[in-house]
Amino acid sequence: MKSIIFTLPGNETLGEKLTTGLNAEKGNFHIHRFPDGESYVRVESLVEAKDVIVLCTLHEPDNKILQLYFLCKLLKELKAQRVILIAPYLAYMRQDKRFNPGEAITSSYFASLISGFADELITIDPHLHRRNTLSEIYSIPSQVIHAADHISNWIKNNIEKPVLVGPDSESEQWVSDVAKKANAPYIVLEKIRKGDRDVKVSVPQVETFKNFTPVLVDDIISTAHTMIETLYHLKSAGMKPAICIGVHAVFANNAYQELMKAGVASIITCNTIQHTSNQIDLSDKILSLLKK
Ligand code: R5P
Repeated sequence: MKSIIFTLPGNETLGEKLTTGLNAEKGNFHIHRFPDGESYVRVESLVEAKDVIVLCTLHEPDNKILQLYFLCKLLKELKAQRVILIAPYLAYMRQDKRFNPGEAITSSYFASLISGFADELITIDPHLHRRNTLSEIYSIPSQVIHAADHISNWIKNNIEKPVLVGPDSESEQWVSDVAKKANAPYIVLEKIRKGDRDVKVSVPQVETFKNFTPVLVDDIISTAHTMIETLYHLKSAGMKPAICIGVHAVFANNAYQELMKAGVASIITCNTIQHTSNQIDLSDKILSLLKK
C-alpha cells in the first residue's frame, strides 16, 4: 500500500527525503495558530484506509504536542488505517523518576498521551536512562533506530587520528560502542571527589593522545554545559581542539553559540532535529525500517 506522509513544520528537510525515498504521497494539511493562541487544523488529502506517517520531531514539545494531537485525532476520524508517528527526537525521556516527593514523572504521562493518539512510534536513540525499553512506558508498538554506526562512519571518513572522549563514566557504554565501530581508541574523563565541593576531573592517558583529535560524543546537546565542561578539561590537559558530535541538536536558547565560543573545532549533529550543524543523515535508517 502507498503511504502518505504529513510533515509538521520544522521537519521539511527530513520530510522531503522520506517522501522521495518511499515514493510516498505528500499529505496536504494546514495548521494555523489563531491570535488567541488556539490552533486550527485541516487535512485536505484523502487518508481513508491508508497508512499515514506523521513526521514531527519533539524538541520544545510543549509548543507542538497539542497540534500533533489534533492532527492525529483528525486523521483517525478521517479513517486512516494506521497513524505512524516518526518523532526522531523523543522528548520527556529524562524525567523518569520522582527525585523529590510530589514530582511528576512526566516521561510516563507523555508516553500515555502519545500512546492515546498514535498507533505506532518510530524514534531515534531515545534517552533510556533508568528504563530498558520504550515499551515500559509506551503502550503502542515502538521501534528504535540507533545512530552509532553512522556516527562511527562519519568519524572514520572525516577525522584522521581520532580519540573518542566520554564526559563521564555513564557515557562509557555509548562512547565505547562508537569507538569500536570507528576502530578508534577512547577515553572517559575521571571524576575524583575529595569532598562535597572538591571534585577534580582528570583526563586519562593525556600523553598518549596529545597528537590525536578529541571527539566528544553524546546523545543530547541541550544547554551544552556537559560538552563545554569537557572541552575545558581537555584544553587544560593540553589536548588539541575537540570536535563535538551529538545525536540530537536540542540546543536550548543560545547553547549552540555558547558551545562555539568554548573553543570547539567543529560541532556535528545527526538530522533528528533540523539544525545548521546536521551533517550525519539518518534518513536511510528510517527508510529501511519503513520499507520492511
Ligand atoms: C545526560 O544524561 C545526557 O546524555 C546528556 O549528557 C545531557 O542531556 C546533556 O545535557 P546538556 O547539554 O544540558 O549538558
